[in-house]
Amino acid sequence: MRAQQFDRALRRYWHPVATSEEITAEPKQVRLLGETIVVYRDAEGLVALRDKCVHRGVALSGGCIRDGRLMCPYHGWQYDRSGKVAFIPALGSGGAIPSQAKVERYRVRDDHGAVWIAPDEPVADLPPWPDDDWASDDWRVFLVGTWRWQSSAGRMLENAIDFAHFNFVHEGFTELADGAFIKPFDVEVTDSGMTYAYDDSVLLRDYTLHLPFTLHDRKSVVSAAGGVTWSEQGESKAGDITTITFIASPTDRAETLIFSWLSRNHSFDTPDADFGAGFHEVMEQDRIVVEAQDPAELPLDPREELHLKLADSGSIIYRKLLRELASTAA
Ligand code: FES
Ligand SMILES: [Fe+2]
Repeated sequence: MRAQQFDRALRRYWHPVATSEEITAEPKQVRLLGETIVVYRDAEGLVALRDKCVHRGVALSGGCIRDGRLMCPYHGWQYDRSGKVAFIPALGSGGAIPSQAKVERYRVRDDHGAVWIAPDEPVADLPPWPDDDWASDDWRVFLVGTWRWQSSAGRMLENAIDFAHFNFVHEGFTELADGAFIKPFDVEVTDSGMTYAYDDSVLLRDYTLHLPFTLHDRKSVVSAAGGVTWSEQGESKAGDITTITFIASPTDRAETLIFSWLSRNHSFDTPDADFGAGFHEVMEQDRIVVEAQDPAELPLDPREELHLKLADSGSIIYRKLLRELASTAA
């Protein structure tokens, strides 16, 4: 019951479904919240429709564009960009097209190098970046890539906010410089999620979470003496900030498409690709533990699983916020 309610609440947010380059004039299938959606570009922009022909249920993404319309591969019915069937070859031109001959059309937009869909009227705009990174000349942002995990978006995002695993899963990569012992830190609930900061003596990590599945992990170098981490390439100096943004897109209850961006206020001469090095290795380390979690869906009831009051306080509050979010859906 709660799972359906949670899904309904998630329908009211923008979720990335593909990179901008992946969506062309050719129809492509994407997945969001268990539904298949066909997305393509025409002369007017992006089109996103339910990927299921109303006639016999065939995926429209297997068809092609004919006369500016999306044509089903089975009997050639042609859908216009609003999702209405505009031509049925078996009826000939002038044939009376049934009024129910249409599929759902989705809100779709292209931003930050990704294509986003909000199935229902969104309650929030796209998540803001912590330093207005996209608009500011002081920052350089790029989409590092996408990853598909066989786990829920909630499990993935909780992994991203959980720094207590770094010294075990990411040895030699993103370890806490001062060790696995978690010092006191405060989680603050905000209008759109929560924030907290953790200083490991080399990096100050500012976490900003926007519900449901966006996390900005903003790392400021406080001391270059302790060495550099994989995301601060080259000559790190105090004041250098690298923000890694994760958005977990809920393709299904137990599958996630992860988008990650990297933003920096330093090393503009270093090619973006150099910052992406090591990323895949770290993501793979996380994928292995997260896919091993049972159940795949994030348990929202605090009585499920065992929590440490301080080290897990971010997760405890995150699960509480997701419970509240689910309760807002009818
Ligand atoms: S199944 Fe699509 S036209 Fe028949
Ligand atoms: Fe991790």
